Amino acid sequence: MDNQNNLPLHLGIIMDGNGRWAKKRGMPRTFGHKAGAEALRSVVDECRRLGIRYVTLYAFSTENWKRPAEEVSVLMDLFDRYLDEAAARLDKSRIVFLGDKSAFPDRLRSKMEQLELDSRDIDDFTIMLAMNYGGRDELVRAARAIAAKAVRGDISPDEISEDTIARELYTYPAVECDYIIRTSGEQRLSNFLMWQSAYSEFYFTDVMWPDFGVKQLHEALDEYTHRKRRFGGI
Ligand code: IPE
Ligand code: IPE
Ligand code: MG
Repeated sequence: MDNQNNLPLHLGIIMDGNGRWAKKRGMPRTFGHKAGAEALRSVVDECRRLGIRYVTLYAFSTENWKRPAEEVSVLMDLFDRYLDEAAARLDKSRIVFLGDKSAFPDRLRSKMEQLELDSRDIDDFTIMLAMNYGGRDELVRAARAIAAKAVRGDISPDEISEDTIARELYTYPAVECDYIIRTSGEQRLSNFLMWQSAYSEFYFTDVMWPDFGVKQLHEALDEYTHRKRRFGGI
């Protein structure tokens, strides 16, 4: 697949199934997360090669803090390593984090901020990493920001439009999400891009995230090229 026509401009991926993948192999869940990080590298590289502009990866939700401390800590270590790698290949992708960074350990948070700063001039390929991200949290923050502007008298309630809200989202100025892939057989959003998915196409596969590679990505994108998007029209 190297035809850039009809590919999504913005692809979202809910990388699910790491734990079950590992369990099936008699291994701890964290083994699955390590394998999942490998899958992530090849899928992102292929998206870049294909000319997809934005890839949003759901890496850690606002609800994932409920997991055992040991699992959360392994995930933080994996993020840390992934960020070091991303820093080493800075020429390739713009990195943006979606979510409240203040929840992360200082070391990780400053790496996140540095990466965003150092990659901000790259505009042909953007990786948006949703970490401590929740679609509801994002909308609450937007509501607060707009309310604060209204209190200051910078905006009046009847001036609030869809664009006013879109501008306060973590993803701004990225466009809404065209296509959302979820692995592992679950068919739900789990608080991923709620606003940005209003007209997304969805693709669900039983493949567990660590087994999702370039071949599976091509299958998913082939399917997208056959979808008829109408956006309420005819
Ligand atoms: C997705 O895999 C990764 C994260 C949520 C961090 P899971 O860890 O949810 O794996 P399953 O769904 O339990 O198999
Ligand atoms: C969604 O997966 C979050 C990520 C993939 C990071 P979960 O495994 O947390 O979702 P639920 O709990 O099955 O809905
Ligand atoms: Mg899961």
